[in-house]
Amino acid sequence: MASVHPVARDFVHYGAFAPSVDRALHDAGWRRVEVEQLEHVPEALRRHDAHVALLDLGAGQAPMLRRVERLIASHPSTEWLAHVSEHALTDKHVCEVIYGSFFDFCTQPVDINRLLAALGHAWGMAKLGPQAASAEQQAALGLEGMVGASTALVELHSQVRKLAAVNVPVLVTGESGTGKEVAARNLHRLSARARGPFVAINCGALPEKLVQSELFGHERGAFTGANARKIGKLESAQQGTVFLDEIGDLPLDAQVNLLRFLQEGTIERIGGNEHLRLDVRVIAATHVDLERAVAEGQFRADLYYRLNVLRLRMPPLRERGQDAEILARYFLERFAREHGVHARGYSREALDAISLHPWPGNVRELMNRVRRAAVLCDGGLIHAQDLELESDPAEGRCTLSLEHAREQAERELIQQTLRETRHNMSECARRLGISRVTLYRLCKKLQVSLGSAA
Ligand SMILES: Nc1ncnc2c1ncn2[C@@H]1O[C@H](COP(=O)(O)OP(=O)(O)OP(=O)(O)O)[C@@H](O)[C@H]1O
Ligand SMILES: [Mg+2]
Repeated sequence: MASVHPVARDFVHYGAFAPSVDRALHDAGWRRVEVEQLEHVPEALRRHDAHVALLDLGAGQAPMLRRVERLIASHPSTEWLAHVSEHALTDKHVCEVIYGSFFDFCTQPVDINRLLAALGHAWGMAKLGPQAASAEQQAALGLEGMVGASTALVELHSQVRKLAAVNVPVLVTGESGTGKEVAARNLHRLSARARGPFVAINCGALPEKLVQSELFGHERGAFTGANARKIGKLESAQQGTVFLDEIGDLPLDAQVNLLRFLQEGTIERIGGNEHLRLDVRVIAATHVDLERAVAEGQFRADLYYRLNVLRLRMPPLRERGQDAEILARYFLERFAREHGVHARGYSREALDAISLHPWPGNVRELMNRVRRAAVLCDGGLIHAQDLELESDPAEGRCTLSLEHAREQAERELIQQTLRETRHNMSECARRLGISRVTLYRLCKKLQVSLGSAA
């Protein structure tokens, strides 16, 4: 009944239906947007914000199929349905295209129940897609490039929004590739300084001799080769944010000057005697344990306390449940759109491999594997071996997967209990029914980080 569907669901149709089919679709809450030419499909999808399209493949001639494949490859977030005659299905090429590129197909003459089921299923899948989720999330939260739906990521979103509003330094910690820089950019974008510059510096990549001059600038003649005055990165971030990446690599003498800036809000260019007052927020990031660096005398304790006013911990991907799969779909869709690659989805075993892999290189590793697989894979689907996640599918797979599965389950339970006990190791061990020593050993083995959330 039409009244059950207060909002009609649009789908784009290249083809035509008898009035009786149209009526049945309408009664089931569907609105059919008919286009007369294949080339008009993208525009119709955009205009109606539709995520499902039904294409009549006609006689399934080769040039038409090539156009269809190109169209589908350039719209990976749309779910595609084919409408074909039984006769066309005897053609191998037609079958390959349907299998490789379409979500589902219906045969002629139309079986309305079958069509409604396919449409509903495609609609549901399109809604689940990471693109839809990320677009909604981004609209709701104003966060860019932080895709995911896990509890850990949702918590992170909320922390980023809270920390963005406060004008004090933030220390972003997390393993390599977890998105520390992405988070720093969001902290800036969501702050009152959003219109000011965001200046990123990798402290580890600066030659030691140049660090001071890069950060604080120098006056003409300050040292041999200083032929002109140079404005440092901090000064160039005036009224904005400076992002000091790999802060643990900052040499000790530069640490002194940075501390002075944090305490007094002023800097001095090298060779100058003027105290310049700056209005710059500092966000620092590290993937090393700064507490240890302090204990070992590599990092000044007073600077550490100044930087560590607010802390944002980026969770590793292995603590983010379904996010690996969501991100894999998101990256694939992005590459498909940017580079027109053919691949538009993952096989079931590829998705299993993605969720079992511990992702030591985090989001960056995932992105690189997906990029490589998208370029190298042959058909429309990416398989585990395209992602190089399974070297020997024949033998060891079963034991390997079982072991991974067990580790994954243990990891998730420990992480969840740690969160629930606010990282109280004794309480966590008690709840899990193991000793503290065993808990520490397991955390180490499973690479569960012990640091508490910000
Ligand atoms: N949640 C996310 N959604 C989408 N892309 C992400 C997400 N997190 C990270 N990325 C992407 O992963 C890559 C690594 O992120 P980023 O450079 O911020 O990590 P990092 O923690 O600074 O790593 P490193 O310690 O190695 O410098 C980037 O290309 C970034 O765009
Ligand atoms: Mg980084």
